[in-house]
Amino acid sequence: EKAEKNAKNPKIDDLYMNTEDGSGEAMTTNQGLRVNDDQNSLTAGDRGPTLMEDFHFREKMTHFDHERIPERIVHARGAGAHGYFESYGDLSEFTKAGFLGEKGKRTPVFARFSTVAGFKGSTDLARDVRGFAVKFYTEEGNYDLVGNNMPVFFIQDAMKFPDLVHAVKPEQHNEIPQAASAHDTFWDFISLMPESMHMIMWAMSDRAIPRSLSMMEGFGVHTYRFVNDKGESFFVKFHWKPVAGTHSVTWDEAQKISGQDPDFHRRDLWNAIENGNFPEWEFGVQIVEEKDEHKFEFDLLDPTKLIPEELVPVKLIGKMVLDRNPTNFFAETEQIAFHPGHLVPGIDFTNDPLLQGRLFSYTDTQLSRLGGPNFNEIPINRPIAPVHNNQRGGISRHTINTGQSSYHPNNIGGGCPFQAKMAEGGFVSHHEKIEGHKIRKRSSSFMDHFSQATLFFESQSKVEQEHIISAIRFELGKVKSEDIRERMVGMLTYVNEDLAKGVAEGLGINPITKPTPPLNHSYPADADPKDYQPKEV
Ligand code: HEM
Repeated sequence: EKAEKNAKNPKIDDLYMNTEDGSGEAMTTNQGLRVNDDQNSLTAGDRGPTLMEDFHFREKMTHFDHERIPERIVHARGAGAHGYFESYGDLSEFTKAGFLGEKGKRTPVFARFSTVAGFKGSTDLARDVRGFAVKFYTEEGNYDLVGNNMPVFFIQDAMKFPDLVHAVKPEQHNEIPQAASAHDTFWDFISLMPESMHMIMWAMSDRAIPRSLSMMEGFGVHTYRFVNDKGESFFVKFHWKPVAGTHSVTWDEAQKISGQDPDFHRRDLWNAIENGNFPEWEFGVQIVEEKDEHKFEFDLLDPTKLIPEELVPVKLIGKMVLDRNPTNFFAETEQIAFHPGHLVPGIDFTNDPLLQGRLFSYTDTQLSRLGGPNFNEIPINRPIAPVHNNQRGGISRHTINTGQSSYHPNNIGGGCPFQAKMAEGGFVSHHEKIEGHKIRKRSSSFMDHFSQATLFFESQSKVEQEHIISAIRFELGKVKSEDIRERMVGMLTYVNEDLAKGVAEGLGINPITKPTPPLNHSYPADADPKDYQPKEV
């Protein structure tokens, strides 16, 4: 049955080229030499020292000594699975992306879910954002949708990402705490970063402690573009809707599960697939016409904002089914390299300043995480679409490029064997008109930091609001600095008075000091702070 299923998945066929099963075979060295004893090193006499010439011992130990690679700088803890994406129907009015083409079209995928802040060995049930990354192995090349389980992000500009991550990771002097938040540096940063308030509402809500990986939503977060074959572009937000519904555990349950089974989510995903209960998500899009770019009260390029579904409904356009566990965690889940810049024709970026910075970061980090420039050749990263170009060499190059030349144009041997055939479906960046001065200044359309935070808090049920209040109380209760606790509670007054009061009561803060504007510390030194006021103030 498995063979039949795999036969339908061209990426699994592709991976089989690299699988190895030596059961029943003679053990050999890496050179193919048969080994006669794998348990005793070669010594001088039966009680003497080990000999330098014991190449089998040296090879076995050397490989072992190097079998770890750096964990991801963020999203280190993850679990993944293979599956397929099936399109519901023709979307060519909006995008020429082939995998969103005719009804029933299937594309192989690998999805990896992760926590963000914890180490590779940390608990699955930490209060944290979850990564939701999907690699589509399309006929037009790999398309990666590198999303999260929350629709917005902490910061508006990639420039602040190292600061955010330094603040949330364990403190540098003592590597404490290993939990996602609950410490001085994180709350110090957040209390000085009004733009993070919307995301903080999500991160302190039940969304941050999902019951199962198959019971969480996924979001592309940024506004992307669809481009159709006439070159017309539409703004688009991406959504994954779990068929099993969105469910969470309570904080008390999360803590108990963390103690008893830190692999709870990973195990659940694995067992569900082994038992044939394949997790499923529907894929949805919110599409906005270019002419409507400025019709919202927020900026479509601001990743701390979502488009309320009441304003633009989510149109469901396909389904993802995860139906096969990885064969080898390291080879697949650990070595997979996602990148928001892996696009196919029909999908393009916007100028969201967070997205723009991400486009640099992923390849850059993978160069060190995966050891040099050839990690695209690692089987899990290899597209099923053919790869032809003039790249050559580099550490661990596997491809044996043939012929004399590796440059273009050339006329040796009858000219370059492959050409950049733009006219025949090559990727063309959307012809967006760009004008402006080179400046470090965020548009004033990014300055409303509170209204969607308020919208989120007030859209929650009473019980859910209580959970948010007790989560912030719990987290801030661990913060040693009174100053940070008070500043944070003060900031919450801009979101909702009852929220601030509820947290303050639990922490014995009375009275609450509402911070005086400007709250935003990110305005340039030569700017007028008036231009940087949150709208509500
Ligand atoms: C992983 C950078 C924002 C989702 C990573 C990694 C880096 C990174 C360096 C590790 C990649 C690797 O080692 O393979 C950044 C930067 C950001 C940013 C610089 C902002 C400027 C975001 C946002 C999202 C996101 C907004 C969600 C929309 C993810 C996911 C992973 C990841 C899901 C894990 C991918 C996997 O499973 O391998 N990010 N990130 N990141 N990031 Fe981001």
